[in-house]
Amino acid sequence: MSLEPRFAPPSTKPVSSAARVLDDWYVACESKALGKEPLAITFLGTPIAVFRRASGEPAAVLDRCPHRNVPLSMGRVRGERLECGYHGWQFDGAGRCQAIPGLCGEVDKAGRNVPAFATRELDGWVWVYGTPDADPEREPYRHPLHDDDRYTTVTQALDMEGSLHATAENALDVPHTAFLHRGLFRQDGDRQQIDVEVRRWQDRVEAEYFGESRPEGVLGKVLAPQGGEVRHVDRFILPCIAQVEYQLGEAHVIATTALTPITDYRTRLFGAVEFRLPVVSSRFVPTKTIGNVLKPLALKVLGQDADALRKQTRNVERFGGEQYVSTEIDVLGPEIMRLLRQAERGARRPPRDEPERKRIQMLV
Ligand code: FES
Ligand SMILES: [Fe+2]
Repeated sequence: MSLEPRFAPPSTKPVSSAARVLDDWYVACESKALGKEPLAITFLGTPIAVFRRASGEPAAVLDRCPHRNVPLSMGRVRGERLECGYHGWQFDGAGRCQAIPGLCGEVDKAGRNVPAFATRELDGWVWVYGTPDADPEREPYRHPLHDDDRYTTVTQALDMEGSLHATAENALDVPHTAFLHRGLFRQDGDRQQIDVEVRRWQDRVEAEYFGESRPEGVLGKVLAPQGGEVRHVDRFILPCIAQVEYQLGEAHVIATTALTPITDYRTRLFGAVEFRLPVVSSRFVPTKTIGNVLKPLALKVLGQDADALRKQTRNVERFGGEQYVSTEIDVLGPEIMRLLRQAERGARRPPRDEPERKRIQMLV
């Protein structure tokens, strides 16, 4: 009797949505999460110790003391250095061993150093570069509205059980919203035909939806009580930014998620929602209160997404592989995969100002 699974993936070539783009920046933590204590994070299975030096600058080193393998994150910060909690070796932000308590001879020898990751702290996030001991080839993403005081920012971090690709696609996928988030965004009832323009650059792809009326769910009503037409753009920016932008009359919302792959199939999501509301909403209800109303709703949506991604990933495990059938209304998923694969191969195309454009129709 054959023991082959009855529904083995039809392709003999294993399919995986896991992508490893290492020559780029990922969010290690929110700035507010990095205090005096070192922080242990994991990037694509690699343990990294992130610490804030006395000067305030963050630094990041491999979370393994070269002396006896103890995690450096269990140590403490001493001035500009990270001190191992076992025998007190001290490492600077570049990973160089600068002190070995009790040693009479020379301290600074190459084999005693620890690999270090470049860091940046920008707009409320601490970023690490994916390759240790490397000079970064580019700079991290910047929030365009972070310092604009007309906008309120709400942040949230949580883990998703899915690959970076699956998590990014989920964040930017329109067709699931009427089903998975029934009643919160869109209703699965009367649909309208709209135009979608997909624009591709060498490091990003975006989809703009034309002619979409205000979503009828609770979120739409809070954001634009008077209704109106929506400007809606979803975009992915290499290697890890998924962004949804809505403009409804005077209301403007940019929800940015930075996705950090903890492993191939576990992704930490750092969300920052920047919003400005119409006068009619904010006159009666302070923006802070609206933020307090929106946050539980947004968390509910995220919880539904997390649940779907977890089930998707567990099913991939049960079937021993991934398989995909896409149609043209899966607007960004295949494009994101193409960008990730190019970047993974080190084959990013040269920059150009004008995007490639394609137009499709869909019912929403
Ligand atoms: S294990 Fe770190 S100093 Fe000994
Ligand atoms: Fe969703």
